[in-house]
Parts: sequence; structure tokens; C-alpha cells
Amino acid sequence: MSVLRFDNVSKRYASGREALSEVSFEVGAGEMLFVTGHSGAGKSTLLKLIHLSERPSRGAVLFGDRNLLKVRGRRVALHRREVGVVFQDHRLLTDRSVADNVGLPLVLRGERRADTGKRVRSVLDRVGLGDRAGALPGQLSAGEQQRVGIARAIIAEPRLLVADEPTGNLDPTLSAEIMALFESLPERGTSVMIASHDLALVKRMRKRVLVLNQGRLVDDIRPEDLAE
Ligand SMILES: Nc1ncnc2c1ncn2[C@@H]1O[C@H](COP(=O)(O)OP(=O)(O)O)[C@@H](O)[C@H]1O
Ligand SMILES: [Mg+2]
Repeated sequence: MSVLRFDNVSKRYASGREALSEVSFEVGAGEMLFVTGHSGAGKSTLLKLIHLSERPSRGAVLFGDRNLLKVRGRRVALHRREVGVVFQDHRLLTDRSVADNVGLPLVLRGERRADTGKRVRSVLDRVGLGDRAGALPGQLSAGEQQRVGIARAIIAEPRLLVADEPTGNLDPTLSAEIMALFESLPERGTSVMIASHDLALVKRMRKRVLVLNQGRLVDDIRPEDLAE
């Protein structure tokens, strides 16, 4: 069964701007793929429809067998538990330690403190920050801050991890490292969807690529078709 399905989805903002036009695609369990296109192509809008920061104007977004049109009120928070989100600016709480930031999704859902502590240590080890648990985000480099953001997004083992320009603030070497982390980290079965305008970086990952152009899905490139 697919994890995510867009069925003829269009999004028109109140400004009248059509950010997405009749977009359809499907993502399988455990699949990693990219969404690329120029600035303004609709990448962020597409991801926002998945974590319910925006709603489609037409068409349906399905998460497993859940039609997101029908997810309202309290169920929005429940849905978001199953979608890990990484932002370009990572949105860490600057006055909380790295460990507190990473554990937050578990605390918010009422997990026991002892269990949370153990899982925070484990996930920080996995992103290579086992020795920085007590630091404040401002004491870390940009690349390390993004690792914290990724740790926070995966700690609750979401079914889908979405990332919006996660390497937008990083130099090429750090960007490649972060992309490798996305590839290696998620539990088996977690799907990963990354929006990036950096086509060269995306191509090097040799994964499926959805290409948006002015809100239209103009290509769906399979890894085997990605020539050097
Ligand atoms: N909240 C909004 N209100 C009105 N227009 C918006 C809003 N967010 C994005 N847009 C417009 O929708 C289009 C797609 O934007 P976006 O999804 O951010 O593209 P991308 O992430 O590919 O740069 C752009 O023309 C943008 O200006
Ligand atoms: Mg964007």
C-alpha cells in the first residue's frame, strides 16, 4: 500500500496564486525521493499539504488510507505525529538544550521521562551528536543544528519524514553529509521526501525525483534514468 498519494491536487492561495496545479503521484513505504524545481515552483506548498499547514483547493491527499481532507481539529495533531518534519531553519528552541529539543515530540505525547531520555541518547548517537546533549543550539554549528532538527524529526519513528530545503543554509560538503544522514537514518519502512532546489545535489543521490515547474508536476524521474 502507498504511504502517500496526491490525487489531482491543486492549491490556490487567497492571493489568487495557483501554487500547485493538478498534481498526482504516489509514494511507497520505505521509499526516499526528492522534490525539485525553481524557487516558487510549489515545493514548500506540496510539503505543507502533507503536514496540514495548508489545505488543497481541489483534489485529495491520502496518507495511507486516511483522506487528509477529513482530518480536522484534534486529529491534526495526531496526524502530525506520523509525519516528521525538518525545516531549512530547523526551528529549534534556542533556550532549551539539544536533548530537550530532540525529546520534545515524545514529551508532548506524554511519554515517560525515563523512556524519553533513553531514546534521546540513542538518536543523538545516531546523528553523531552523542556528546552535545547538554549544549544549547546556539553553541552548535549550522550543520550540527540541522542534525538536531533531524534527530527531533525521527525520534518518534514517523511513517513519513519530510524535509524542506534541509541543506539550504549549508555548504556543499555539509549538504552532502546531511543528505547521507537522511539516507541512512530512518527506520526501515519510513519514507523520506526532501524538497530541494539544488538539482546537482539531488541528482547525485540517485533517487526518484519529482520535478515541479510553476505548480505542475512535469517529471517523475526514476533513479535508473538519472544519467551523470
Ligand atoms: N502563503 C502564501 N500566500 C500566497 N502565495 C503563496 C503563499 N505561499 C507560497 N505562495 C506562492 O506560491 C508559489 C509556490 O510557492 P512555494 O510553494 O513556496 O514554492 P517553492 O517552495 O518551490 O519555492 C509561489 O508563487 C509563492 O509566491
Ligand atoms: Mg520552498
